[in-house]
Amino acid sequence: MRHWKKLKKSEIRKRVFDALAENTDFAEKETLGVPASHLDDKVFYQDAPFLSDAPFLTTLIKNPNHIGCHTLGTSESFFKGTQEIERELIAICAEDILRAPAKSCDGYVSSGGTEANMQAIWIYRNYFVRERGAEHREIAVLCSDDFHYSMSKAADVLGIRHAAVPVDREMRSVSEADIARTVADLKASDVKYFIVVVNMMTTMFGSVDDPDTYVRALETSEAEFKMHADGAYGGFIYPFTNADNALDFSNPHITSVTLDAHKMVQAPYGTGIFIIRKGWMQYANTKEASYVEGEDYTLIGSRSGANAVAVWMILMTYGRYGWEEKIAVLMKRTDWLCRELDGAGVKYFRNPNANIVTVHAAHVPEETARRFGLVPDAHGNPAFYKIVVMDHVTIDKLIPLTKALKAARKTMV
Ligand SMILES: Cc1ncc(COP(=O)(O)O)c(C=O)c1O
Repeated sequence: MRHWKKLKKSEIRKRVFDALAENTDFAEKETLGVPASHLDDKVFYQDAPFLSDAPFLTTLIKNPNHIGCHTLGTSESFFKGTQEIERELIAICAEDILRAPAKSCDGYVSSGGTEANMQAIWIYRNYFVRERGAEHREIAVLCSDDFHYSMSKAADVLGIRHAAVPVDREMRSVSEADIARTVADLKASDVKYFIVVVNMMTTMFGSVDDPDTYVRALETSEAEFKMHADGAYGGFIYPFTNADNALDFSNPHITSVTLDAHKMVQAPYGTGIFIIRKGWMQYANTKEASYVEGEDYTLIGSRSGANAVAVWMILMTYGRYGWEEKIAVLMKRTDWLCRELDGAGVKYFRNPNANIVTVHAAHVPEETARRFGLVPDAHGNPAFYKIVVMDHVTIDKLIPLTKALKAARKTMV
């Protein structure tokens, strides 16, 4: 563990205020050429006394723009203080969570998991076009049928194909034979290059892909591919519940990973995290961004530096071991829930390393789903409802749900 050491509140506060002092201060300095400023001071008070104890709110008000990618080349010097915090955050995620070698990755804080997934697919599409002379119709995104919809959105925006491999209904996993069949069908319709997206916990089931199954099937089919791991949901859970997993940078086939701090980390929305091995960001370089110091390598363009600061503050408040403890508590609660469901004969899917429990809709009366805010796989015709054991989902809050499910089971048998 190189970067992720717990800090005291006072140390976090000092680090953020020192970083802000290194940024340009629109009120104090002669910064006349950027179309940016602090938040409107008629609406957002700059001098409220509590702000001296509120580093995140102060960063929001100072409004640094983290446009560009700060782990490679140069960046806008106006915001160099908080960019350094973002660089540290990317290093924590890449090296301390996803086991990348030191300084081997680039990355940035994106608007969310959708953008981070799209950034990966954009990079690999451009790679196949530039290095292999591929046409867009010869490139396909390949993932399991439990994919997040950002994959089909990305394929649509980027003008490439998208195919999903069927999943086993009970196990939520794909077989090598089904991957090979899907690849053969795509090859028969002119697809030559594959962008494989493996799941580090799916949105609906918390299920986890085995990247080796894809690698075996694609290598046997002699298909060229690049592989991205979608950890938008699981990236801050799975590395702690299954430390020796094959979905991080310890696996040479994984070139990039999406994490999302606005889910399990409870950071503000706008805190997706995109991480990729060095040497790949260049495929997303927009040279026309010539007025931006260091040019731009991201989909988003302007973005708030306060988002990176928020995620960094949360992770540094816990430290690695505090985070492990937090996840361990969520897993205990999920274990408890599963024991209750087992006792009542309620059918569900749960990956043993996940905090999502997905119950068969036949065992959940509609009124119970509504009362407890359970999310269906498909509004209108649900086959499953999920329970996500977040920080606020305590055993005390789960008890009325398990009681309702048990009572419903009694009337069904
Ligand atoms: C597995 C997975 N990937 C991607 C996303 C998209 O994330 P966002 O809503 O932050 O764009 C989600 C969101 O739920 C997700 O669960």
